[in-house]
Amino acid sequence: MMLRALLALAVLPLAAQAGTPATDQALNQEAASLIPPFQQELLATVKEAVATGGPAKAVEACHLLAPEIAAKHGDGVWQVGRTSLKIRNPNNAPDAWERQVLESFAARAAAGEPLADLKHGERVDGRYRYMQAIGVGEPCLACHGQSIKPELASVIDARYPDDQARGYQMGDLRGAFTLSREVE
Ligand code: HEC
Repeated sequence: MMLRALLALAVLPLAAQAGTPATDQALNQEAASLIPPFQQELLATVKEAVATGGPAKAVEACHLLAPEIAAKHGDGVWQVGRTSLKIRNPNNAPDAWERQVLESFAARAAAGEPLADLKHGERVDGRYRYMQAIGVGEPCLACHGQSIKPELASVIDARYPDDQARGYQMGDLRGAFTLSREVE
């Protein structure tokens, strides 16, 4: 009796979803699945550029390749990108909806919530939009940290005169992946 009640509880939410096309949950999963390969290619590209041409070359690589890599990891349905409250490239500036989500992520992170839990999906004006937090790891500090080598800082300054994306520490919230697609 007890067991049957438990089973019924476990099965009900699934049954309620069946038949509804493109639930928010399914859209969240779809969006989230595009992020790891995007993230890996960004990191691999930066690492390779550092290895072959040093940090200055890596900044060039980020500048030239980041938009291309983002375009490639959209799957024709989803658009994929990155944004932040403190941006390096003005092309990555958040729109009003993104800014609101970034601010809520920042508040949740400040309240102690793990960055891995900071995700948010929502229908907005005929599109489904999804964001997921990006944390600062060790490899990011060279270009976004508190003590950027002068040689590298001068390359960043030349390329991004209004750069705000520095001064971060390990584990800080750096920004978010931002994805969107059309929905009926
Ligand atoms: C070699 C230097 C370098 C390293 C290392 C690096 N970045 Fe960046 N990052 C850049 C540059 C340059 C841009 C601007 C790219 C562009 O023009 O689109 C950027 C842009 C970004 C953006 C987009 C928002 C913005 O500010 O324009 C995010 C988010 C970001 N980086 C996060 C990270 C994270 C997280 C790491 C570590 C995993 C990292 N970066 C490592 C140089 C670097």
